[in-house]
Amino acid sequence: MSHSLTRRHFVQRTLAAASIGWMGSPTVRAMVFTPNDAKPALLGGKPIRTESFPSWPKIASNDEKAWSDVLHQGRWCCLDGGFANRFEETWASMLGAKGCVATASGTTALFTSLKALGVGPGDEVIVPPYTFVATINVVLLQYAVPVFVDTDREASQIDANKIESAVTSRTKVIIPVHIGGSSAHMDKILEVARKHKLVVLEDACQAHLAEWRQRKVSTIGDLGCFSFQASKNLNSGEGGAILSNDEDLLERCRSFHNNGRGKRGPGFEFVRNGSNHRITEFQAALLNEQLTRLEGQTKIREQNAAYLTNLLREIPGISPARMYDGCTRNAYHLYMFRYDSKAFAGLPRDHFLKALEAEGIPCSGGYKPLNKEPFIEATLQSRHYRNIYPEKELSAYKDRNHCPENDKLCGEAVWFTQTMLLGPRSDMDQIAEAIGKIQRSAAQLVKA
Ligand SMILES: Cc1ncc(COP(=O)(O)O)c(C=O)c1O
Repeated sequence: MSHSLTRRHFVQRTLAAASIGWMGSPTVRAMVFTPNDAKPALLGGKPIRTESFPSWPKIASNDEKAWSDVLHQGRWCCLDGGFANRFEETWASMLGAKGCVATASGTTALFTSLKALGVGPGDEVIVPPYTFVATINVVLLQYAVPVFVDTDREASQIDANKIESAVTSRTKVIIPVHIGGSSAHMDKILEVARKHKLVVLEDACQAHLAEWRQRKVSTIGDLGCFSFQASKNLNSGEGGAILSNDEDLLERCRSFHNNGRGKRGPGFEFVRNGSNHRITEFQAALLNEQLTRLEGQTKIREQNAAYLTNLLREIPGISPARMYDGCTRNAYHLYMFRYDSKAFAGLPRDHFLKALEAEGIPCSGGYKPLNKEPFIEATLQSRHYRNIYPEKELSAYKDRNHCPENDKLCGEAVWFTQTMLLGPRSDMDQIAEAIGKIQRSAAQLVKA
């Protein structure tokens, strides 16, 4: 099949195959598709794609100049230079927030936020299990208890309908994570938060420029955090930021991340216990320059993702992650879909991933069930936790910690990274073509 597959052509073939029952019979598949089409690359056939997808990060001369400016100015710490201040102002204004505190990473942004909110021993924090481990680690680092709320499998986001039943008298904060760059259901989350007087800390680490009802995520709850780690859509190797419209919270964050200083900048006046989670001028300089390309790159990702979704929706057994109606912009840090092996002759998900890789389409199965990580139970059973919480509560944790929908999602998810959405539309055709090819040859792959 040619690499310039048109959507119509692809859809026609898929529908033709589906309508005559292609799932059932290899004979039917052979009637519909040419034999060399059917030989999967994993079994020695020709891969659909041999060239690589766009590389990341994108580097231009402005990055080099900014970096070298910091180097030669010799003011490498953000307390002396102006690059971090400029980044904070620009990022806050791009997102429509009152202020921004740039940090060393997304993890330290979340950690600082929880400190500013006064979360500590004895508190519970509601979290999704479908996230990067940092969302949970920061809660455990405060000796608080992460309470997992199951995932809405269709959207891959926290199931906002299940949050209220997880609220107890200990609950202080909800951390919705806008996973993959799509938005969690913020209307429902804010409703529960208001009703129970809880704080909402948005983990927007994967959601640069994403929106909920035309407002940028990170500015909808009380605080929002970003990561600028190397894989992220806005990247300075490592880096992070806290956004808020609450000046008091911003001030606490700024103070905590700057060793508890009372005022912005250096000096020896301390008003609280703090830490050093500052960004460097080098990171900030890169961010200022990378920012100039973010909007353009985000548009390309959106367009390619929309096109790919239209193609993939036509393939039986492939379900692109649902975007809630309120999600007016998806940042597509990840392109996520669910894979149903029943539509692929029973080919297990992990085998499908290998076959897709062999066709030249990099992919992964994404997260494992985080709530089942043994380190969580071990932390909760540690001496420190036992000093704080009654034994009865700690042993009851196991009974509260079930996320069956998330378990299913972890076994059926397939992810593509954001860089795969930065190339030409024909790249999307090849992705769909490779999946279609695997579907048609699934019976062969199962037997191999
Ligand atoms: C959802 C989520 N939260 C938090 C983080 C932590 O960010 P960082 O790696 O910058 O510390 C990440 C980064 O991968 C993330 O994806």
